[in-house]
Amino acid sequence: MNVPVPNNLEAFWMPFTANRQFKKAPRLLASASGMYYTTADGRKLLDAAAGLWCVNAGHGRREIVEAVAAQIGELDYAPAFQMGHPKAFELAARLTSMMPKPLDHVFFTNSGSESVETALKIAVAYQRARGKGTKTRLIGRERGYHGVNFGGISVGGIPTNRKFFGSLLTGVDHMRHTHDIERNAYSRGQPEYGVEFADELERIIYLHDASNIAAVIVEPMSGSTGVLVPPKGYLERLREICTKHDILLIFDEVITGFGRLGTPFAVDYFGVVPDMVTTAKGITNGVIPMGGVFCSSEIYDAFMTGPEHAIELFHGYTYSAHPVACAASMATLDIYANEGLLNRGPELAKYFEDALHSLKGLPHVIDIRNIGLVGAIELRPIEGEPTKRAFAAFLSAYEKGVMMRTTGDIIALSPPLIVSKEQIDFLVSVIADVLKTLS
Ligand SMILES: Cc1ncc(COP(=O)(O)O)c(C=O)c1O
Repeated sequence: MNVPVPNNLEAFWMPFTANRQFKKAPRLLASASGMYYTTADGRKLLDAAAGLWCVNAGHGRREIVEAVAAQIGELDYAPAFQMGHPKAFELAARLTSMMPKPLDHVFFTNSGSESVETALKIAVAYQRARGKGTKTRLIGRERGYHGVNFGGISVGGIPTNRKFFGSLLTGVDHMRHTHDIERNAYSRGQPEYGVEFADELERIIYLHDASNIAAVIVEPMSGSTGVLVPPKGYLERLREICTKHDILLIFDEVITGFGRLGTPFAVDYFGVVPDMVTTAKGITNGVIPMGGVFCSSEIYDAFMTGPEHAIELFHGYTYSAHPVACAASMATLDIYANEGLLNRGPELAKYFEDALHSLKGLPHVIDIRNIGLVGAIELRPIEGEPTKRAFAAFLSAYEKGVMMRTTGDIIALSPPLIVSKEQIDFLVSVIADVLKTLS
């Protein structure tokens, strides 16, 4: 199918894109089904990125399309402030039943960035609500990605996402990242070395004093900066330290949520339960924007004081628990459950791992790492021109029929969870071809 290409690409200021380069040679997607996109010029592209880490059940799922269409006909919008609609409550109950205790409440947002802002605000307000109003500082981590709003870039650890935007949020500190290619290159699953990186949190707490710290936020597996898998014991150690110092631990599961690691959530994979979990993306299979922040009843209950007619948390969005998003999410959860997609780890992760690691030894490759259905191939950067080599790989793969994602000089792979072994083979053979021809 060829679709008409607009003759003016100028007006749309594209996000996180090299606009001038893109507009000279646009890569336009026209349709999608299952594991594939079709480009505007009629070429089929294997989606090795689940869109943008979100289309976990594959594209064009009829059940979601129908649920969304029906919902728009039935109740197109309902305000979420001082009003409600049944599906919001039904979805919240369903989602929280998927989470370990005590994460039994969920606050709805419209994106990962909003989930992060919401979690940070709840953390600070919670400390105040329980009489610990000095606990306001937030601790993030280098190479963390928590979306693009001011709170998220402040606790985040990506220099380019921070340096243009002024003084950011005050009262934030960062732990070092856990990427240690010298000791952990070519790890399969969790790397052996690096549990001690968690101890840096003790040092930071000592510096600021626990009485001033509200929360620590990390991605259990950092996706956007190149699939940085936590070293063995690291998350457990963070949990211990936070508990010891009465500091909230927030896991940002915007990528790891909904099956990416081969378990429903990273909390299941690692067996570590934080006080809050931020989600988005796979919550609706990427079809309708939605996010959710899970929190413990202890946090929720801390707000449920004061007169009953009074609003307890002065926070929320016009589109929180949007009925169409709720319908999309419920249909998505049905697909995940019916097809066992959130637990494909044991069945497929090993195959994916072996396929990826078969690329070891190809030109430019300096590390390969993986966990569940996510993997990364790190390339040696071109001297003085960081990111250029991986971007060239991205363009070459696009020409060869694969849409993948690159970040820095790292190829990141996160196919929809419906991917077949044959499709994994194709993906890896295209990457091998790309690497062999790359300068
Ligand atoms: C861990 C994490 N947090 C937050 C976000 C931001 O999500 P959104 O782009 O939906 O705002 C992302 C997006 O990739 C993410 O990976």
